Amino acid sequence: MVSINKSFFYGIIVASITWLVSVFFYLHLVRNQNVNTNPSTTKLEYIDKLQDSTDDLENVGLIRSPNDQKIKEEGYKIHAYNTLVSDRLSLNRIIPDTRNALCKNKTYSDNLPKTSVIICFYNEHYHTLLRTIHSIINRTPSKLLEEIILIDDESDIEYLHSNISDYILKEKLNQVKLYKTERREGLIRARIFGARKASGQVLLFLDSHIEVNNGWIEPLLERIKEKQSNVVMPIIDIINPDTFKYSSSPLVRGGFNWGLHFKWDNLPTGTLNTREDFVKPIKSPTMAGGLFAIDKKYFIDIGEYDAGMNIWGGENIEISFRIWMCGGSLELIPCSRVGHIFRHRRPYGSPDGKDTMLFNSLRVAHVWMDSYKDFFLRQRSDAQNVDYGDISSRLQLRKELKCHDFDWYLKNVYPELPFPSEDKERLKKKWSAVEKDKYQPWHLRKRNYVDQFAIRLTNSDLCVTSQKDIRTKGSGLLLKKCTSSKNQVWYETDKNELVLSQLLCLQSGKTKPILYKCHEMGGDQEWKHKGGSGTAIYNLAAGTCLAAENKLVNASVTMKICSNPELATWDLVG
Ligand SMILES: *[C@@H]1O[C@H](CO)[C@@H](O)[C@H](O)[C@H]1NC(C)=O
Ligand SMILES: *[C@@H]1O[C@H](CO)[C@@H](O)[C@H](O)[C@H]1NC(C)=O
Ligand SMILES: *[C@@H]1O[C@H](CO)[C@@H](O)[C@H](O)[C@H]1NC(C)=O
Repeated sequence: MVSINKSFFYGIIVASITWLVSVFFYLHLVRNQNVNTNPSTTKLEYIDKLQDSTDDLENVGLIRSPNDQKIKEEGYKIHAYNTLVSDRLSLNRIIPDTRNALCKNKTYSDNLPKTSVIICFYNEHYHTLLRTIHSIINRTPSKLLEEIILIDDESDIEYLHSNISDYILKEKLNQVKLYKTERREGLIRARIFGARKASGQVLLFLDSHIEVNNGWIEPLLERIKEKQSNVVMPIIDIINPDTFKYSSSPLVRGGFNWGLHFKWDNLPTGTLNTREDFVKPIKSPTMAGGLFAIDKKYFIDIGEYDAGMNIWGGENIEISFRIWMCGGSLELIPCSRVGHIFRHRRPYGSPDGKDTMLFNSLRVAHVWMDSYKDFFLRQRSDAQNVDYGDISSRLQLRKELKCHDFDWYLKNVYPELPFPSEDKERLKKKWSAVEKDKYQPWHLRKRNYVDQFAIRLTNSDLCVTSQKDIRTKGSGLLLKKCTSSKNQVWYETDKNELVLSQLLCLQSGKTKPILYKCHEMGGDQEWKHKGGSGTAIYNLAAGTCLAAENKLVNASVTMKICSNPELATWDLVG
């Protein structure tokens, strides 16, 4: 799914798929930063139903019946995240305030511009979309919020549109305006459609499965007020797709590779020297695409989006190049935080099954990249003879805006980007321009072990054992006579992982638990138990417990509803 190449060790991060689909891309990043992750204690007065304590969040995914299991499986199929949890969580839940402490002391102008928030969706999960809306209403001062524009891009989930429209009426959410496109337009044209309906001075594009954090909007608007051509983005925090746990993201910036895939990069060396640097705007060569704010007039002046692009993909790179090359700037604002559900996969394709990412990327290359487009074309041999439509109006736009050329962009905005044509020496130099030492890559970080034990089925002498070699990723688990051999010794970490012989993590898996590379993202590798004898071993993402098929040698180990203790009760023996 993701490729890790040698450059990784120089602190450059290569994620070969775009951010919307990649749940675990932050694994490729260094973390360890000075952000405050303590849960907020400021309660919002109008919140009636709270389900934000850690305890609740741990139990909220619990499967209590076969029906729960069904809802959950259906949800994963359609949405690629845990809708059972989303349905159970309050629409007004409190999330941890992940801002740096310095952000809370900042003050902003009284006359910030009013904003139209624009959210396009296609088959979004009903409750998750409502939570997105509630988080915006709850955490945005009303004088800054002109409206929330929802664009339903021809969703075909039954009743979704009417359910949302009924809800808006019932709850009197007067600031929320729901529209529907006349046919499936895709994200790009749906956004143009939404932007043209907007009456706020600033357009703020958001995804439909997010939750905005405290004080998210002021620092974005302040920066646009300072300069109309500043296009700004929040830091995208992580909402775990299995558990909905909200966690802070590291400060990284947007880049791309020569396949024209978006990727996250570490910051250039020296970006974060002082405490203040952690809250200052950070220039970013590209945007991830889902979340950003832009002055409405400026958006129109620089040519909105390329309406010739289809459904999804590449539009974020296109608008990033255009902003930089045509006189604007693109920045991340560390004091603005928005949580995003990183789904396991993109749950839909284009209606005709075409690769819209390639089509759109070809348009980007031919309009903006001058001779550097050859690097892209060489990497994408499948791009030969692929039609990319008519680009003449975009070339005309580029001329009218008197934009810099792509060489200027590379030299001035993204000098750290390695070229395929460069030799080792030059590459090393470029790599050294990016932060690496300050933060430890995740896979080099030391795990904190807090306990060590065998997992024995209660009232037996059978222990959970790896089916294959302890180094084999994907190995299932079996019961074997307890022998204290390496393939039975589990090390527990301070993140509630169970690591067999300090190598691979126990992961709840789709149907059966397996051994897998530790990803440090919790969820399917996060296990809770009360310790000692006669304990259940509960997985947070699965909502079910570790169980044996029967009490025999070679019986396979599986996951079962926790309320059935038979064959799911264990002794942890040191
Ligand atoms: C915030 O401001 C107060 C009052 O000026 C000061 O005492 C406090 O140290 C500041 N907090 C931070 C994190 O700088
Ligand atoms: C959605 O609308 C349908 C049809 O009116 C109704 O039966 C259903 O209960 C609604 N669902 C929700 C969650 O409101
Ligand atoms: C368990 O499986 C192993 C390997 O397949 C086999 O050699 C052994 O006889 C089995 N033991 C029992 C008790 O079934």
